[in-house]
Amino acid sequence: MEQKRVLVVGGSSGVGLAVSKKLVESGADVIIASRSAIKEKKYLQSLDNLKKCSYYSVDITIENEIKKLLEEVGMFDHLIITVKSPLVVSQFLELKQEDVHHAFDTKFWGQYNFARLAYKYINKGGSITFSSGTLGERPYPGYSTLSVINGAINSLSKALAIELSPIRVNSVAPGFKTIKELEDIIPLGLGSDSQIANPYLFLMNDSYVTGTTIVSDGGAVLV
Ligand SMILES: NC(=O)c1ccc[n+]([C@@H]2O[C@H](COP(=O)([O-])OP(=O)(O)OC[C@H]3O[C@@H](n4cnc5c(N)ncnc54)[C@H](OP(=O)(O)O)[C@@H]3O)[C@@H](O)[C@H]2O)c1
Repeated sequence: MEQKRVLVVGGSSGVGLAVSKKLVESGADVIIASRSAIKEKKYLQSLDNLKKCSYYSVDITIENEIKKLLEEVGMFDHLIITVKSPLVVSQFLELKQEDVHHAFDTKFWGQYNFARLAYKYINKGGSITFSSGTLGERPYPGYSTLSVINGAINSLSKALAIELSPIRVNSVAPGFKTIKELEDIIPLGLGSDSQIANPYLFLMNDSYVTGTTIVSDGGAVLV
C-alpha cells in the first residue's frame, strides 16, 4: 500500500477505524471521512498511528457534500465505505416506511451515490469496497430492512464490477459484533473490528478479485 491514497468513508469508528489503522501500518496515505471526522480529529489523531491521516466531514446522504469532499480530496486509489445505517428492527408488517427509507438513504443510496460520483476520481488500478452484512445472506425475523439493503449492496458490487471495469468493485459482509445472545451460537463467536477489517485490505490488494462479497462472520450464516 506504499504511496497509495485510500479514502475511508466511515473511518472514524468501528470497522472503518480498524481498516484505517491497518492501512496506515501498511504505508498508505489514509483519508478519513464521516459526519463527525473533523469534530473528532483531535481524538482520532491521538490513536495509534492516525496522526498523519487527513480528516474530512461528509454526510453520505447529501449529494452536494459528497461532491465537495471529492473536489477537496482529488484523485485517489481506493475507496472503502463502512457507513452504518440506523438500526431498523421490527416485524415486516409493523415497519414504519419512513424508518426503512431513512436506512436505505444512508446505507444503500449513500454507497450507491458515492460510487457514482467518486468513479472519476479513482486512479487506474484502483478499487471500491462497499459494506453489506451477514443479514443479506441469512435473514433473521425483524431484520428484513437490513437483509434487503445488504443483499442490494452485494448485487450492486457485482453489477458495477462489470460496468466500472477495470476499477474493481467488491463488498464485505460483516457478521455480528455486539449481540451477546449470539456469542455461543456462532461457531467462532462475535467478531472484532480488527478481524472484520482484514477482508477490506485483501479486496483492495488483490488485483484479480472483482464482483465478490467476502463474508466475515465467524460462521454465523451457517447456524
Ligand atoms: N456492527 C455490526 O455488528 C455489523 C453487522 C453487520 C454489518 N455491519 C456493517 O459494517 C459496517 C461497519 O459497521 P460498524 O459497526 O463499524 O459501524 P460504526 O462503528 O457505527 O461506524 C460507522 C461509521 O459510519 C459513519 N457514518 C454513519 N452515518 C454516516 C453518514 N450519513 N455519512 C457519513 N458517515 C456516516 C460514522 O461516523 P459519523 O457518525 O461521524 O458520521 C462511523 O464512522 C456498516 O456498513 C454496518 O452496517 C455491522
